[in-house]
Amino acid sequence: MIRFAVLISGRGSNMTSLADAIEDYSIAAKITVVISNKCCAGINLAKDRGLPTRVIQRKNFDTQAAHEAAIAAAIHSHRCEYVFLAGYMAILSGDFVNQFAGQIINIHPSLLPAFKGLNTHQRAIDEKAATHGVSVHMVTATLDEGPMIAQASLPLMASDTANSLAARVLQLEHQIYPFVLFGLAKKNLSLSPEGARWHTPSSILADAPAPMRDSLARCLIWPASASKE
Ligand code: GRF
Repeated sequence: MIRFAVLISGRGSNMTSLADAIEDYSIAAKITVVISNKCCAGINLAKDRGLPTRVIQRKNFDTQAAHEAAIAAAIHSHRCEYVFLAGYMAILSGDFVNQFAGQIINIHPSLLPAFKGLNTHQRAIDEKAATHGVSVHMVTATLDEGPMIAQASLPLMASDTANSLAARVLQLEHQIYPFVLFGLAKKNLSLSPEGARWHTPSSILADAPAPMRDSLARCLIWPASASKE
């Protein structure tokens, strides 16, 4: 059973997609705590479904180090093996990230290394990118970097606005983050400080629950051999 924390700052739809997938597909995993750095819609969603929650706000601490120490203490007290960042809108220090080396992952709405940072959808439109998408990657001390775990892409359409593109990318996000959790739970995916390793990438989609498999089959571009099924 994988025990993991989810760190959020906003609406919490990715946290919800992880919690739903655990229930819907009987994934051997448990969200042991949802931590937010602000009062937000996502923390209410987590409470509504009975998940343990903690709101740990920066303003209540003198320093970033003290704030992060409180977050780390909450993660440790809930005996989490992994930390999933899901819209956590604060830059974590190298000290924090390094103490969870190989255990902390993030979902980012672009095909990294393209469009690090914010406003990814509008920037993809402005740059007339042919494709856009979502990346799940290991977190290192450098923003939106770290070894890739999974990536899925979609084509931009001439009619796309930032909102329409964001909505389509979000649908992919809600499949790929649970897919990564599924890989960890099935021990097809290993994470370590050295990086991410899919053990049998060519069969992971075949083993995945049908909705995940069907929506990712056409658009998963990493792990590369999974997309060649
Ligand atoms: C998502 O687009 C995620 O990729 C990014 O922040 C957003 C969070 O959305 N890191 P939600 O709170 O999960 O709905």
